[in-house]
Amino acid sequence: MSVSAKSATSFALRCIQCQAECEQPSPDFRCAACRNLLQVVYQWPEALRGQQLRKLWLERRLSPIPADQSGVWRFRELLPILSRPLDPVTLREGNTPIYDLPRCAQAAGMRHLLAKHQGMNPTGSFKDTGMTAAISLARERGFQWVACASTGNTSASMAAYAARAGMGSLVLIPEGKIAWGKLAQSLEYGAVTCQLRTDFDGCVRVLSEVVQRLPIYLVNSVNPFRVEGQKTIALEMMEQLNWEVPDHVIVPGGNLANSSALGKAFLEMRELGLISRLPRISIIQAEGANPLVRSLRENQGRELQPVQAETLATAIRIGNPASWKKALAVLRATEGACIDVSEGEMAVAKAEIGSDGIGCEPASAATLAGLKRLVRDGFVGPEDRVVLILTGHMLKDPEYTLLFHRGELLAEYAEAQPSRRPPVLLDANADSVLRVLETHRQPA
Ligand code: F0G
Repeated sequence: MSVSAKSATSFALRCIQCQAECEQPSPDFRCAACRNLLQVVYQWPEALRGQQLRKLWLERRLSPIPADQSGVWRFRELLPILSRPLDPVTLREGNTPIYDLPRCAQAAGMRHLLAKHQGMNPTGSFKDTGMTAAISLARERGFQWVACASTGNTSASMAAYAARAGMGSLVLIPEGKIAWGKLAQSLEYGAVTCQLRTDFDGCVRVLSEVVQRLPIYLVNSVNPFRVEGQKTIALEMMEQLNWEVPDHVIVPGGNLANSSALGKAFLEMRELGLISRLPRISIIQAEGANPLVRSLRENQGRELQPVQAETLATAIRIGNPASWKKALAVLRATEGACIDVSEGEMAVAKAEIGSDGIGCEPASAATLAGLKRLVRDGFVGPEDRVVLILTGHMLKDPEYTLLFHRGELLAEYAEAQPSRRPPVLLDANADSVLRVLETHRQPA
C-alpha cells in the first residue's frame, strides 16, 4: 500500500479571515493579527487519492491496533496532525451506528430517514471524536493540564481523555444549567470541576484569561485540532453509506464547531476524490439560543447578533458561538439552511426518536424538529436522503425526559400530549396491570 501514515502531508494553521499563517498559536488559538479563528490546512501528497484510501480504511477494521480500532484514527491520513499517529490517546471513539428511523420519517413526511448516533461514543457524545485529537496533541506538546468551558459534554469528554492520558483537567461550567449525567461524568473522571455563577459564554470569558496566565492547554472547539477529529464523523458516515452522498445532513448548532467540522470534511473528501458532490448541511438552533439564525435574518450574516441564551436543551444554550464564521462558510458552500425550533418542537421530536427505539438528548432532537420544518417549507423533499446527526445520548439528561413524560416540562404545550408516556402507579395486583394493558396497544 503506497499510502502510509508516514506520507509527508504538511499542514499549517491559517486564519479563516485574514489568511495569515501562524507558526505558534496563542493559548486561545486566535490569529495574532486579527483575533479570528484558525483552521488546519493541508498540502495533500499526490499519492493520497480516493480509491486507495477507501481500501486502506476498510482493511484497518480488522486490525488489533488501538489506533486502527478508533473510528477517528482509522482515518488518520485526513488528519495528519500527530508526530506519533499510532500512539493516540484513544477510548476507541467513533464507530457509531447509522440507524433508520421509520416512525420519525413518517412524522416528518419522509419516505426514509437516517440518523448517525454520536451518543454511542465512549462518553456518550460526539465530543469524543474531537477530544481524542486535542488530548493526543496536548500530550505530544508536553502539557500537563487541559481545560475547557462547557455546557457539559465537552467537559465530560475532556475529563475522560485527560484521565486516560494521566493529565490534570479543569472544567468551567455554568452553575445549575448542566444536565446531571454530564456533571457526574466530569466528577467521576477526576476533573477539577468549577461551577461558575454565569452562563456558558461567561465561562468562556473566564477561561480565556486562565489560559493566558498558566500553561494549560485549551480544548474548547476554538482549538482547531479538535475540529480535525470531529471531521471523521463525516468520513465514517460516508463509508457506512458506501460513499453515496446524502442530499442533506442536519446538525444542531450551539458553539457551531460541529457543523464547521462536517463541512470541512465534505470539502476535503471532494478535493481528494472520495466523493464528487456535497450534501446540503443545515444547522438547527433553539429559538432561545439562535444567534446565527438572527444574524442571517437581520444582516445576512455580516455580523453576529449575540443573544442571552435560554433553552431547556442545555447543550446548545449558547448566545455567542465562537465558530459562527466557520459555520456560515459551510452553510454557503453547501447551500444549507439555518433555522430555529421551539422548545415544544424539540421535546416532541425527542419522544418521536424515542419511539423508534433510539434515545438522544434534547439538543440532538433539534435535528428532527428542524427537518419537519424544512420538509414543510419544501427545502427537503419527501424522497430526499437525509442523515440527522444525533449528538448526545439520552442518559445524559434523564431529568428532562422524565419531566416531559410526566407532563411537567412544558405543561402548557398541548401538542406534546400524544407523545407523553407517563409511568402508571398501581396497587400490586395483576388485575390492575391487565386493566392498564387494555388501554394500550399490544406489543407486536
Ligand atoms: N449537541 C450536543 C449534545 C452538544 O453537547 C453540543 C455542544 C451541540 C449539540 C452543539 O455543537 O457547539 O459544535 O455547535 N456542546 C458543547 C459543550 C458546547 O460544551 O459540550 P456545537
